[in-house]
Amino acid sequence: MSLIPELNGRANALVCGASQGIGLALCSALLACDDVARLWAVSRHARSNDALLALAQIHGERLTLIDCDARDEAALAALAAEVGRSCAHLHLVISTLGILHQDGAKAEKSLLQLDLSGLQASFASNAFAPILLLKHLLPLLRKGPTTFAALSARVGSIGDNRLGGWYSYRASKAALNQLLHTASIELKRLNPAATVLALHPGTTDTALSRPFQDNVPAGKLFEPAFAAQCLIGLVGRFGPMDSGGFRAWDGQAIEW
Ligand SMILES: NC(=O)c1ccc[n+]([C@@H]2O[C@H](COP(=O)([O-])OP(=O)(O)OC[C@H]3O[C@@H](n4cnc5c(N)ncnc54)[C@H](OP(=O)(O)O)[C@@H]3O)[C@@H](O)[C@H]2O)c1
Repeated sequence: MSLIPELNGRANALVCGASQGIGLALCSALLACDDVARLWAVSRHARSNDALLALAQIHGERLTLIDCDARDEAALAALAAEVGRSCAHLHLVISTLGILHQDGAKAEKSLLQLDLSGLQASFASNAFAPILLLKHLLPLLRKGPTTFAALSARVGSIGDNRLGGWYSYRASKAALNQLLHTASIELKRLNPAATVLALHPGTTDTALSRPFQDNVPAGKLFEPAFAAQCLIGLVGRFGPMDSGGFRAWDGQAIEW
């Protein structure tokens, strides 16, 4: 199976949100894959991140580290320009951008805990940053097979919401899903070989989930490396016919 459907040859890939957690595991797994020619690993401090620097030592020029705060649109434009200087087409972009209790976001349990700054922080990182990443990388996604996958979350599903809570996170992931679905319709016209996916990685042992892991049933908490392998399997399996969909780590469609 090729890295993405219909790809003949090796891939140029970019991971935005690469410094830790699932994004870092994705970088390791993609670099271990012969189908990947080059990888751009992006996070706010990628160039000084020990784990990414260790990967760069092993993989040399296959890996380029770029510092970019994806909430800053000028920084996203600069990122796209930098990648575009050495690459005409990206075959795979994975956005792992997302916050739950970091950078001013709050995992609210009740309406009384909701405030404007927390809502804005969640929406900026979870919904606005990934779609503006897609906007700025668009010139690199127009020539043949390409997949833009953003990590969403099952809790962003409105139909699946039975527990409540986590207002900002749930709403910003639901907004992300709508933005991605809308972009998938436009991309169908711009590049029929393009695929846009919203993916739920499963509950995974990272800094994002750590404060909430007590409620996770035994055996249901994934290692980042396992989540990364599942996600790479999904981008290999779902192509243009499935573009605009919302899928879980095991390939099941998730209701909106
Ligand atoms: N872990 C789970 O159980 C779980 C479950 C469902 C969905 N998800 C989703 O999966 C994704 C990855 O989660 P994770 O658990 O791996 O999170 P994580 O460990 O907190 O990693 C998040 C990554 O995003 C980067 N990032 C955050 N804000 C950024 C910004 N403004 N600009 C550039 N990079 C930024 C971080 O790098 P720097 O801070 O170094 O910039 C880091 O590399 C998220 O979208 C999350 O919502 C996770």
